[in-house]
Amino acid sequence: MSEPRTIPAFLSELPGPLRTERFGRESRWHAAIGSTNTEAMRWASDGAPEGALLGADHQTAGRGRHGRAWSDVPGLNLLFSLVLRPGLPQDRLGLIPLAAGLAVAEAIEKRTPLAPALKWPNDVLVDKKKVCGILLEGRLTPKNGSQSTMVLGIGLNVNQTEFPADIVGKATSLVLETGQLVPRIPLLANLLNALEEHYDSLATDLGVAVLAGFERRMAGLGTTATVTFPLSGESTEGTILGVAENGALRVATSEGERLFHSGEVSLDNSVRQVD
Ligand code: BTN
Repeated sequence: MSEPRTIPAFLSELPGPLRTERFGRESRWHAAIGSTNTEAMRWASDGAPEGALLGADHQTAGRGRHGRAWSDVPGLNLLFSLVLRPGLPQDRLGLIPLAAGLAVAEAIEKRTPLAPALKWPNDVLVDKKKVCGILLEGRLTPKNGSQSTMVLGIGLNVNQTEFPADIVGKATSLVLETGQLVPRIPLLANLLNALEEHYDSLATDLGVAVLAGFERRMAGLGTTATVTFPLSGESTEGTILGVAENGALRVATSEGERLFHSGEVSLDNSVRQVD
């Protein structure tokens, strides 16, 4: 199966649906690169403006969360990073990955009949399998009065049909779920439109719209789950209550409600009553 279109080198050539003011208006697209996050951070250090997009048809050293690798089959997926210079207060930065997950879900909903779910903090699932991963990296604390510089990396499995043995059954793609090739360019445009809108809304409505959109699609809401800290291996069980104003996961545990700012969530899929 081959994909009908390739992504143009410059997204400004993108026909039709790109409506953004900043996101993707400056862009660099590579045939192959180590990691788009690394390269975008380099570009940011050289002065790339907010919303600059660096993408690739293939990554040779793609990174996931918690030091994991992110692999791809060349030319079939969306792999890109955006330079962000958020002027948000520190306690709202945790909403950025949630805004990104929401934008991905909305773009999928626009281009396919699928109903994606969002697993905190930022995995996008279809049929309980991961279709997209998001990696936010960078300086959270501004240096010398400057703005924070961050890079938001998104890896969305679009037309890939085979996955490495260790993630078979856990990963999926849009083509596997719909049975049809999904053109990447319009999908990317929809994603950037939604992302700019949600990212900008974090500054104007304190994250209300993003939190509502996220919780509406939240995987495991009201069910029991285990939150594990990958570094220490420490884990806590409880019922997922939702997301706090700063993006933290709210969990009802035997010791009362706890907020998690990081960690890996395993969903049990057994429903419990939430007060
Ligand atoms: C995860 O572990 O779920 C996050 C995966 C993030 C992958 C994307 S692909 C584009 C960008 N470049 C990287 O090296 N990683 C992110």
